[in-house]
Amino acid sequence: MISDHKKEEIRDSADIVEVVSDYVKLKRSGSGFTGLCPFHNEKTPSFHVTPNLGIYKCFGCGAGGDVFNFVMEMEGVGFTEALRTLAERFNVDLPQEQPTEPDETYQIKEGIYHALKSAGMFFYKSLVETDEGQKALNYLKNRGFTSETIKKYGLGYAPGSGQSFLNWALKQGLDEAYLHEAGLVKMSQDGQRTYDTYRERVMFPIFNPSGKVIAFGGRILKKSDKAPKYINSPQTKVYNKSESLYGIQVAKNEIRKEKEAILVEGYTDVLALHQAGLRNAIATSGTALTAEQMRVLHRYGDTLLFIYDSDNAGQAAMLRGINIALEEGLGVRVLKLPEGDDPDSFVKQFGKEGFLSFKKEHAKDFVSHMVDAAILSGEWDDPVTQKRAISRILTSISSIPDAVSRDTYVQMLSRLSKVGDRALYEELGIISGQKNRQEKRREMRQKNQEQAQSQRQSPPQQEEAPPYWENEPVHNPPQIQKKPTIIACEKEAIRLMLQHGRPMVEYIAGDVGAINEQFYESEEMRMMHLNIIERYEKKEPISIKAYMDRGHPFPQIVGDVIMERYSVSEHGNKKRITPILKDSEPYKVARGNLKALKLLFLDRKRSEFQNMYRNADDSQKKEISEKLKEIILWYNKLQHQSADELFELSEKEKQALLEKEQNNNDRF
Ligand code: CTP
Ligand code: MN
Repeated sequence: MISDHKKEEIRDSADIVEVVSDYVKLKRSGSGFTGLCPFHNEKTPSFHVTPNLGIYKCFGCGAGGDVFNFVMEMEGVGFTEALRTLAERFNVDLPQEQPTEPDETYQIKEGIYHALKSAGMFFYKSLVETDEGQKALNYLKNRGFTSETIKKYGLGYAPGSGQSFLNWALKQGLDEAYLHEAGLVKMSQDGQRTYDTYRERVMFPIFNPSGKVIAFGGRILKKSDKAPKYINSPQTKVYNKSESLYGIQVAKNEIRKEKEAILVEGYTDVLALHQAGLRNAIATSGTALTAEQMRVLHRYGDTLLFIYDSDNAGQAAMLRGINIALEEGLGVRVLKLPEGDDPDSFVKQFGKEGFLSFKKEHAKDFVSHMVDAAILSGEWDDPVTQKRAISRILTSISSIPDAVSRDTYVQMLSRLSKVGDRALYEELGIISGQKNRQEKRREMRQKNQEQAQSQRQSPPQQEEAPPYWENEPVHNPPQIQKKPTIIACEKEAIRLMLQHGRPMVEYIAGDVGAINEQFYESEEMRMMHLNIIERYEKKEPISIKAYMDRGHPFPQIVGDVIMERYSVSEHGNKKRITPILKDSEPYKVARGNLKALKLLFLDRKRSEFQNMYRNADDSQKKEISEKLKEIILWYNKLQHQSADELFELSEKEKQALLEKEQNNNDRF
């Protein structure tokens, strides 16, 4: 186990803003930062990072915790692994220890990561150190890639024998099962032998945003009709094609700075642009753009520049890509390169400055681009085909979630097409309506399919399903997994004790407040209460810091409890977050909460006993009704007295508490 002392050292060294920024584009807001939550799909930021507490919290989905929780969630790793990752990143020395027994998927993933990393090293060495690799190295050098680029992006060479990698890996003690899981080796069709997936290919490792190898693309060395130009890793437990972007491990920081990502088609295009100093370029692995990839990009920037070569066959694919980016709320621009050039060749000829000035002159918003394309193709010359082009452009515009941007583009299209905006809005309405109906039909089909499936499995249901229009929203809202909400006064009681330490514990749980764990409905808060009392009795420090320094789940609960004080209030349309970390009158706040806690508790007790009464035998009824009366009396008494009266302190007690609190230097 890693010592608490080390944990603390890592927490102190790890900058939560920097760590979160790998995944979320953060904006400063007061003493903290906000951004789009990486744990659920949202268009307006409800994700908050508070660096001086070292915690994050999303008001949309309830996710929250400290820097360790964040890494665990984002990277899908366990606590120890999160500690190690952060220790490595922020240069905290850790003793070499055998890891604690991790869960199964974690172990498999680690095995795959390890296999991939080892393979990356093997391919790199084969490229730069072996005779066989020389031809691949020459090839890369001839294409203008420097040794620095080759090293930084881990390019490599997979030897041609068919088992070089396998044999090397086995000799290294790598588990063959993980080589299969990682897609690095394959079974022959007759099932007789295992061989390398990549043979005689230039290797491009694909990394995740935090820089771990998750897959490979392997390019053939010489043209061949028999073999595909690229072989890419299959989908694995660590490689999800639909959310991966080639180059993202480097590009993420640049995209954050530039606010813009450059989308190109090939691995070599990314490398050439990066090498030229345009490090915000990324690519898919030859697959169509997905909404998940757009979501990843949106964490870092808000505009996507599509680069498109004029001899590009995939215009339709690009159009779909544009619509997907627009749907995600990204700004979309398009840059068309001169005839015969791709990003790689262009930047090698003209360099960074040449590229930037070309971009400045020729990059267009997507509407202008689509109009120009229609003019070039001749579509614009004829009213019938022009109408078709306009509808296509309006379809793209209808993908934009933001009404103001939609409006801007409609106005622009109106100017460019000389079609009045009234007519365009009318057409836009029709298109949106069609889209909604299509979406509904799709949902219906899916629903019917699911229903048919469940009917096949279970006997027909008694109740008839309601017609779809009764409960079907026009757009499916994103599914947010809300944690069960904890009653605010329960959180408050815990917060007060954590924030004001022992005197407050005495007040709330002692004679005056007389709160014990049974007064809480939430399991979590009940556990916290017991834990605080236990620490109190053992004379251990009670403070936010003391709990933040403990392992899972304490930091997360503390975050939950503390951040609740940042109430989200509606001011017109603007949501405002108001931090109230210092109570000016903590005991007054406590009194209000004590009353609320007790009333809610009695309310629950009342319905409990009422239920019991209904189901009781006559012999038990009398006793239960006595108890019920008692509860109701107590409830009424509480309700009619002010909290200040109920939980009043004598002057002497007040003075004593104040002094105690001042001496309590163990507070947050
Ligand atoms: N691609 C693929 N499988 C293929 C061909 C292409 O996965 N059989 C993907 C690769 O990700 C490739 C991208 O599509 O990077 C673009 O293809 P292409 O332009 O043909 O390759 P480049 O990367 O430009 O390679 P080169 O410049 O060496 O031709
Ligand atoms: Mn190319």
